[in-house]
Amino acid sequence: MSHPQPAPDGPVGDFLKAEEPRRDFMTQAAAIVTGAALGVVPLAAGVGVFLDPLRQRSAKSGGGKDSQGFLKVGLVDALTVGGAPRRFEVIDDQVDAWNMFPKQPIGAVYLLRTGDAEVRAFNVKCPHAGCSVDFKSEAGCYQCPCHDSSFQANDGKILNPNSPSPRGLDELLVEVRPGSGGSEIWVQYLDFQPGTSHKVPEA
Ligand code: FES
Repeated sequence: MSHPQPAPDGPVGDFLKAEEPRRDFMTQAAAIVTGAALGVVPLAAGVGVFLDPLRQRSAKSGGGKDSQGFLKVGLVDALTVGGAPRRFEVIDDQVDAWNMFPKQPIGAVYLLRTGDAEVRAFNVKCPHAGCSVDFKSEAGCYQCPCHDSSFQANDGKILNPNSPSPRGLDELLVEVRPGSGGSEIWVQYLDFQPGTSHKVPEA
């Protein structure tokens, strides 16, 4: 076992004595950095474990959305071919950094059945400023209560040329899929920015 040698006398000894406090400081600093680095790994693992249940719940429920963002909105049998459009709520799970809120309304669509297995979907938000349009059966069109835009029932196009809306209602992709309770209507629900002449999905 070696023991530290005393510093020799003279200029060299004076230099080594002056360096000793600096060496001690560097050694302590290195120990602190190493300890902190070793502590970060278990801390990160602990945070991951803490968050894991939320991640698992979110992945398990998946909000009902498939990998392409389609959500089941209703059954085809709820509509009649050539009948009036019907309004349906769109339900999905909402997740923030800490909480998961299952089955929350995230929007609404008007569904219109155009054939045995053909359905069209329109987002209810008016493209002018985002108010919800209503289907008025007596007028046979969609009307916006805010600034009087009106839209055709069958394709959502602007009906009255004086409508302030810069575009027709936003049509959404629809798939009709077989289900245990009958044919199901799945909609790729998206919101689009109001006030633009073309559809720009909300971020
Ligand atoms: S929000 Fe619909 S017309 Fe203005």
